[in-house]
Amino acid sequence: MNKIQIAPSILSADFAAMGEAVEALERCGADLIHCDVMDGSFVPKITFGSDMIEAVRRHTSLPLDVHLMCVNPLAKAEEFAQAGASGLTVHAEACGAGLLQALREIHSLGVRAGVAVSPDTPLQGIYHCLEIADMLLVMSVYPGKGGQKLIERTLAKATEARRFFESAGAEKDIEMDGGITEENVAAVKAAGVNVIVAGNTVFRAPDMAKTIAELRDRTR
Ligand code: DX5
Ligand code: ZN
Repeated sequence: MNKIQIAPSILSADFAAMGEAVEALERCGADLIHCDVMDGSFVPKITFGSDMIEAVRRHTSLPLDVHLMCVNPLAKAEEFAQAGASGLTVHAEACGAGLLQALREIHSLGVRAGVAVSPDTPLQGIYHCLEIADMLLVMSVYPGKGGQKLIERTLAKATEARRFFESAGAEKDIEMDGGITEENVAAVKAAGVNVIVAGNTVFRAPDMAKTIAELRDRTR
């Protein structure tokens, strides 16, 4: 089973103090920084672009796990890679038939390539892409905002993916994103997930280090 990684999402950080927020996440034991890029087209909200990734890059040595909730994500991939992204995750729904090529192009930029699927998107039809992706992001909420409730039925999709990877002898990361709390994180891990995204749960916590440790303890 792949190593459990806690990836707080800066979507829930104070955007007016983002440098301090990522420095605090690193101090408090995060493994990755999950960066939710929203373009106002793929989802209604606009969050930030590659300039924010460049700024965050100067404040932490942690890998930057960039989640591109964008139409035509490839158009900006090089910009994000040059800004310091460690991994770029693109939505299957945004790439359509171009998903395989998108992953290849992300790899050619020298960064990890992830595929994200929204709650209503089945894995059927993208298995061939999972063979070259480094990570699958199973959205446990509809993309577009933090602080939503985890959609239970998405756990089965993570399990399906874990079985697919195991049958292929591939130790790939499966990330889950949206609505993860101390109460449900054990079930998320049991479903086969090893990269835990948590925005609201971490940033609303009175003690971030304690909450990150709690998420890790409950996934041992
Ligand atoms: C949705 C975002 C959120 C965020 C985590 O588009 O991707 O899921 O990362 O949100 P919460 O606050 O639910 O952990
Ligand atoms: Zn995300």
